[in-house]
This record gives sequence, structure tokens and C-alpha cells, in this order.
Amino acid sequence: MQCAGWHGNQSKPQRGDSMPYTVPKLEDFSADALQEAAAELTSACAQEASAVRNQAELKAFRDRWMARKNGILTQVNDGWLKAAPKDAKRDVGALVNGIKGMVEGQLNVATIQILTRENSLSSGMHPDEVAALIRKRTHQDEIDVTLPGIRRSVGVEHPVIRTMNEIVNVFKRMGYSVGEGPEIETDYYNFESLNFPPNHPARDTQDTIFIAGQESKAQRDRLLLRTHTSPVQIRTMEKQPPPVRVVIPGKVHRNDAADASHSPIFHQVEGLAVDTNITFCDLKGTLDHAMKSLFGSSVKTRFYPSFFPFTEPSADVQISCFKCGGTGRISASEGCRLCKYSGWIELLGCGMVDPNVYKFVGKNGYDGKKVSGFAFGMGVERIAMLKYGIDDIQLFYSGDVRFLEQFA
Ligand code: PHE
Repeated sequence: MQCAGWHGNQSKPQRGDSMPYTVPKLEDFSADALQEAAAELTSACAQEASAVRNQAELKAFRDRWMARKNGILTQVNDGWLKAAPKDAKRDVGALVNGIKGMVEGQLNVATIQILTRENSLSSGMHPDEVAALIRKRTHQDEIDVTLPGIRRSVGVEHPVIRTMNEIVNVFKRMGYSVGEGPEIETDYYNFESLNFPPNHPARDTQDTIFIAGQESKAQRDRLLLRTHTSPVQIRTMEKQPPPVRVVIPGKVHRNDAADASHSPIFHQVEGLAVDTNITFCDLKGTLDHAMKSLFGSSVKTRFYPSFFPFTEPSADVQISCFKCGGTGRISASEGCRLCKYSGWIELLGCGMVDPNVYKFVGKNGYDGKKVSGFAFGMGVERIAMLKYGIDDIQLFYSGDVRFLEQFA
């Protein structure tokens, strides 16, 4: 709608009139006429901006003034700038630019007002604070030294890594060094040198992913994702003659379906001690001390016969249940689910290094007649779950901040 009286000799609509502002067609491009038209537009814009009360009105304001299609600024551009005679173009251009800036400014002020009102209602902040924050966010003023700083949250160790470090530190204090080895291993280090000959049934308990396309290689050279950290026992003995005391933390892979207690990728800490006159007593004393350090001085350990190809004799280590104190019962009426009512929790595998293993590193001074040693391997996730009362291993890998934050 074009206002009939706008550029005729009839009276112009006055401020406060209910008639909404419309862009007049300019016929006179003199400086005075331009100034007058701009002043009318500016006061209309300011008035409308100050009347904005909520988000819906804000949107209506933005659409009316700034919509690309037929918004007031577009009309000004088309009706004033494009229509201007050549010699007035420069001045009109500058004027129209100024108008654009002014309208944007009004929109910003109105936006801040609305956001201030809405945010201060819900946050309980003082409206001045909210306005300052919003100005900051919309880069209205770049520096306000009175604003609170942006607090960056500090990261923490993942519970698995934390537990792994705790275990490693227990052994470091007993004089162990720390070693590492590759996650992609050869069949030789993962199996053969650990006394799992090709086709040995014990391989079935540790199925894993083999790298494709290696058929032309000898079996011992084929690459796979290591199923345990034990191959680093061999790698360590190849590098270092006896005596050895080493712990090896690391990631391992197995063909296990994921469930509450299994994950195809998990972590282990391996240990190896080789010297003259190392006995099963040393193994028992060392692991008993380690379990007391990790779970508290009142836990007891027991060694249960087991089998691993690379240790002889082999044992599984169990600790007395720290929840029920080894009784299997929480109260007269309630059994202890943590230890499955047995009073004992199985934690790790261990044993005396099988003399056959030394044959693979005989060149480096390992002779089963002269040295003896023990080895052990424990699952880090399992220990972390027991220590922190976590009932689902998948929580470690889900990346859920709500879970992780509890270890901060
Ligand atoms: N490597 C064994 C496993 O992953 C654990 C183990 C390590 C057993 C060292 C004995 C000695 O099951």
C-alpha cells in the first residue's frame, strides 16, 4: 500500500499515527529531500523496534524491514538507489548504506532487549548482566573486562588408563621397569614362541583378527592383532639378558562378542620376572602384595591350578571378596552377588615361565637350567570394574560424559 499523501501536497502521516510506515517513491533527489525521507524512515524504524515485545514480534520486525523479498530495505534499494539519477547515485548510495546499518542496529537493540528479558526471567541473572553477555556473544562490544571468564573444564584420565597406571605403579615401587610392544603382532610372538605350536588347541581360546592377504608368508610371519600382552615377554627377553623385572601395559584384541563383561578390545598388564632362584613363593608373595595394594590390605589371595602353554605350573589368582569379606554373604538373608556367593573373585592368570619358552630366547642368556622366573597377566577393565563397582564393561567405551565425570 502506498500512502497517498506521502509525496503530494497533502499532510504526511505523523509520528504516532496508526498508519504503518511505507517507503515513499522519491521524485526529488536533492540533499534536503533525501535527508527528510531518511529521517522519516529512521524514526519509523526506531519506533517499531522499541515496540517489539517478544520473539514473534521480533521476527515480524526483521521480516518487515530486512526480508530480501520486498522488505523495506529492499524497497529502499530498488525505489531510491536504483531509481536515482546518475549524478545523485553516489549520495543516495551512501545514504542507503547508512540506513541499512541503522536498521541492523535497531534489530540488534530489539534482540538484546527481548533476550535480556527472557533470559533474566529464567536464569535469575540481573538484566544488565544478561545484556552484557548477549552483547559479548553478538560481538557488540569486543572487550568487557568485567565479564566472568570462560571456564574450560579440565580433562581427567579415563578410568581404564587410570587403573592401568595404578597397577603399573604398584610394580614400579617393587623395582619393575615398564615395557611396551606392538598391537599388531606376528603369529610367532603371539603364539609360537609362547609354546602354542601351530594347530595347538589352546589357540582356540584366543581367536583374533588376522591381516588379510598373507597366504604367501610363512605362518610364523603372519600378522594379527595380539590377543594378550604376553608376546612382549619374548620381545623383552630378546632385548635384555637376565635378570628381568618388567610390567607391560597394553591393548589386546579377541574374537569375543561384546556383552556386560566382554569386549573385543580390552587392556592387560603383563608381568615378567626372570632371575636365578626365582620360585613360586616369589610369585605368590609378589601378587599377594600387589592385590593388597590395589584392593586393600585385608584381602587374601589364593592360587588355583590352571593352564597356559607358556607357564608351568600355571595358576589363576583369586582374591577374597572385598565386598562380603570372603563370606559370600552380605547379611543373614542376602548373598553376595559380586563373588557369586563364593567369597572369592578370580582376577588373573600366572605361573612359572615354562622352560620351553626360554629355548626361544636361549641366544640371549636364557637357560632353563640356570634361570627361573614367573609371569602374570591381568585384565585392566575387570580390575577397574571391581574397584569402582561398574557392572557393564561397555560403559568404558561409550564415551558418555555422565559416566566419565564420576572419575573426575
Ligand atoms: N596371557 C594370558 C591371557 O591373556 C595371561 C597370562 C599371562 C597367564 C602371563 C600366565 C602368565 O590369558
